[in-house]
Amino acid sequence: MNSNFKKNIIFQKYEVTRIKRENKNHYKSKVIWFTGLSGSGKSTISNILEKILFKNNINTYVLDGDNIRSGLCSDLTFCAVDRDENIRRISEVAKLMLDAGIMVLVSVISPYKKQRLMASNILGKNNFLEVFVDTPLNICEKRDSKGLYKKSRCNEISDFTGVDSLYEAPETPDIHLDGTISIKENIKKLIKKLYENNVIFFSTYS
Ligand code: ADX
Repeated sequence: MNSNFKKNIIFQKYEVTRIKRENKNHYKSKVIWFTGLSGSGKSTISNILEKILFKNNINTYVLDGDNIRSGLCSDLTFCAVDRDENIRRISEVAKLMLDAGIMVLVSVISPYKKQRLMASNILGKNNFLEVFVDTPLNICEKRDSKGLYKKSRCNEISDFTGVDSLYEAPETPDIHLDGTISIKENIKKLIKKLYENNVIFFSTYS
């Protein structure tokens, strides 16, 4: 293949811009990026947050690791290189959704610091909020809602995050949730933080 092929791609500008969409929506799109171990509570929290945003007339979408891996990323394994590619694709999809004026919730393990930095770089730091769902391995393993920790300990699956694959916890996440306290408390904290960060304009919800 001609290695110059990229030179022949000319970015097209459309007149319905992100700003126009945001003005119509009366909120700014953002990517709220949940990272944490499998079973940490990322999807549960994303689901509840999405329902609250939806109720408040905010257009949302959740990019969930398991769901994306059922389609767009179904060709990827859990080796380090494939996980990087998973995060790159998800970041690029989230970027399109940002442009579409959507509040994007990303719920993926995203185990490596460099991956989350890549996501932030692709999306732009101002568009990206990192939320660490900090649930210790022993609690995730005890929950084992998908039975994957058990399979991993029995060597039925390999490269399982937290067991035989690394998870690098964020040191300075934008929002730090304690996965050992109740979901209700975490949602309360999350809404408060999103309000303080001018992502949303309500702090009470039902
Ligand atoms: S990531 O590491 O590439 O960010 P992602 O969030 O997309 O992971 O997918 C994680 C989900 O895949 C887990 O919630 C779990 O259900 C499933 N899974 C299957 N095998 C593995 C594995 N080896 N490591 C981690 N998660 C796995």
